[in-house]
Amino acid sequence: MSHAPLSYIHPSAHSPWSTYLSQVDRVLPYLGDLARWGETLKRPKRALIVDVPIEMDDGSVRHFEGYRVQHNLSRGPGKGGVRYHPDVTLEEVMALSAWMTVKNAAVNLPYGGAKGGIRVDPRSLSTKELERMTRRYTSEIGIIIGPNQDIPAPDVGTNPQIMAWMMDTYSMNIGGSASGVVTGKPIHLGGSLGRVKATGRGVFVTGREAARRIGLDLDGAKVMVQGFGNVGSAAAELFGQAGAKIVAVQDHTGTIVNPKGLDLSELLPLVKRQGGVAGFAGHPSGAERIDDEAFWDLDCDVLIPAALEGVITPARVERLKAKLVLEGANGPTLPEADDALAERGVLVVPDVICNAGGVTVSYFEWVQDFSSFFWSEDEINLRLDKIMVDALRRIWDTADRYRITLRTATFAVACERILMARQERGLYP
Ligand SMILES: NC(=O)c1ccc[n+]([C@@H]2O[C@H](COP(=O)([O-])OP(=O)(O)OC[C@H]3O[C@@H](n4cnc5c(N)ncnc54)[C@H](O)[C@@H]3O)[C@@H](O)[C@H]2O)c1
Repeated sequence: MSHAPLSYIHPSAHSPWSTYLSQVDRVLPYLGDLARWGETLKRPKRALIVDVPIEMDDGSVRHFEGYRVQHNLSRGPGKGGVRYHPDVTLEEVMALSAWMTVKNAAVNLPYGGAKGGIRVDPRSLSTKELERMTRRYTSEIGIIIGPNQDIPAPDVGTNPQIMAWMMDTYSMNIGGSASGVVTGKPIHLGGSLGRVKATGRGVFVTGREAARRIGLDLDGAKVMVQGFGNVGSAAAELFGQAGAKIVAVQDHTGTIVNPKGLDLSELLPLVKRQGGVAGFAGHPSGAERIDDEAFWDLDCDVLIPAALEGVITPARVERLKAKLVLEGANGPTLPEADDALAERGVLVVPDVICNAGGVTVSYFEWVQDFSSFFWSEDEINLRLDKIMVDALRRIWDTADRYRITLRTATFAVACERILMARQERGLYP
């Protein structure tokens, strides 16, 4: 028996990369002759690992581990966020970059897929340390990013200020002003109106369409949200405006519930001030704190996972009451849980279409930066809604035609585009 060391593309059990690879295996039978190129989808084109040393405020030196993975560039430059989180690994970034390839193709943006990250808890750094780390990381990955090569954006633990430092560092290094090198920037640096809430808006738009198709009235519907950051809070707000009740919210600080609906006009500013939802328990508008695991037993119609990967497990599916799952987060559902949800007749709008609103408005930002001509927020929201609704309709038709889940259908639509581009470009040399 051979004991050769494992390749870096070998997935560890239950990792996001293994989830992604099993999703690819499920779509290959629907790709016809293009399946010949299928191995392309299972290998990142390029993975860069960088050491990020910085001087801390107390004079000591610390090293952070950084990554940028470009999974596929067949359809255009790389596009995907940068995550600051202590659990980031190369394998996780590989999976996130691959999901970006699929997502960008699913909504037909002229991009490949990429993702980056640093193993760090950003909350443990001072603002100055965060800036030094961001600038050094940007410089280190500067050899593969650029407005025409690969365009980072915010993800978990990063925000418009971090994008501003990235844009400035890259610009300083090339001796010009390269606003198109990152998206999700502050507005006066070439950011786009509507970008901050775009991912949440996309979750809402796809959720609204899915609810309509399964006959679920959003007015009065009970919605639970896991993760109350950029994506979860914006989605919750729009569902609230549509008449839904946000009955439970969970984040890294705890879980709060109110079966009559949490008062978002009070909750949102509190989370901004305190950095989490836990402090809302006991609020006069009504909110009770419960054990985190009890979240999965609550009565609800819609579940929006908007935090991290792998949280929807087969055991939790058995307890889940939701009829509709809207994947705001990337990779929240394990493959076996996906099967269990399908068996129970729970509709899942998968990450690769559900949370594509963010990258779609990032695309608008990039286009506006190149033309130095900026659109109104209404224009942006209208264009976003149209792209999401059209993409979902095509995916739905594909799912009906082959009698497959929306996830496999999204992969089918996207992978056909990716592999067609691969075939048309041909192999170099
Ligand atoms: N920001 C975007 O534009 C964007 C686009 C597409 C997909 N996503 C995905 O959406 C998800 C959330 O991203 P974000 O930008 O909102 O990040 P964020 O950093 O703004 O918020 C993350 C949220 O998750 C919560 N969280 C962290 N650990 C948790 C845990 N163990 N249990 C429960 N909650 C936990 C945090 O408290 C926070 O509320 C990620 O999967 C990300 O990849 C983000």
